[in-house]
Amino acid sequence: MEVFSVQFRVNGEEVEAEFPAHLTLLQALRELGYFEVKNGCEKGDCGSCTVLLDGLPVNSCLVLAVQVQDKEIITVRSLGSADNLHPLQENFIKHGAIQCGFCTPGMLLSAKALLDKNASPTREEINEGISGNLCRCTGYVKIVDAIKATADQLKTNQKKRRH
Ligand code: FES
Ligand code: FES
Repeated sequence: MEVFSVQFRVNGEEVEAEFPAHLTLLQALRELGYFEVKNGCEKGDCGSCTVLLDGLPVNSCLVLAVQVQDKEIITVRSLGSADNLHPLQENFIKHGAIQCGFCTPGMLLSAKALLDKNASPTREEINEGISGNLCRCTGYVKIVDAIKATADQLKTNQKKRRH
């Protein structure tokens, strides 16, 4: 089987690997040990495999690994650590926006991408921002609460820094 050499960055680290042409980015990332990228439907329906590709959320099951040459990929692993959670992670816990957690890595990355481009989203805009991420457990209200609370918190922190 023909393989192609691909170089890219994952969470700031250089990766060089050989992939067959048909391998999806989801499969490639999991083969490389990035198990935080969840495999749900493998057909673009659930959003559990969401990663940021050059800052934009994509379903990694719909991207071929050979397409990410020179690209920057962010997985939830780089958002925060157990000792130093990202405000989104803190608020997901605080607002009970996690149950089984399967959707959470993708949900957090879509939320981050939304807040990066819109610091004050309305609930409708949040709903739209996470519309590609399905959650079977929470009913979404708590997830939207958590994202809204994070936006408010980040704004307050920014104001405090200015004074
Ligand atoms: S696994 Fe990619 S969208 Fe469901
Ligand atoms: S918390 Fe279970 S799918 Fe979202």
